Amino acid sequence: MEWNTKYALGIPVVDTQHRQLFRLSNELDAELQAGIRSEEIDAMLIHIGEYAARHFAMEEKYMAESNYPGLAEQQATHQAFAKRFVEIYDEFKKKGLSRDIVDTLRRELTDWVREHVTGLDQRFGAYYRDRQSTAKTTDSL
Ligand SMILES: [Fe+2]
Repeated sequence: MEWNTKYALGIPVVDTQHRQLFRLSNELDAELQAGIRSEEIDAMLIHIGEYAARHFAMEEKYMAESNYPGLAEQQATHQAFAKRFVEIYDEFKKKGLSRDIVDTLRRELTDWVREHVTGLDQRFGAYYRDRQSTAKTTDSL
């Protein structure tokens, strides 16, 4: 699934990170399909895990600052992903790049990123944009 500007929340730093997460997910997906070596997948997973953690922190900061009512739900969702990510990564470290792991990575990991950005995060985008436009209207009064 390719990034599309319609997924933008209207917060440049968050949108840049979402775009990058799409790119990383697509790369991982393509490499898994092509049959990549485990060492390379290992490096990619570490990178994605760190990038996602940094991104969640940044996104939650914007949510907290704008008093977003869905913050707790987002935090819980981000934490659940982080936990699942560690489980999958540990399994990969134990068993290597088995058929199961490839399926799990493709199904759970890369799909999650795309579904989260195009789903739950969009609700925050709508809230944020709405708030921005209300602020502008109030300013001009
Ligand atoms: Fe999110």
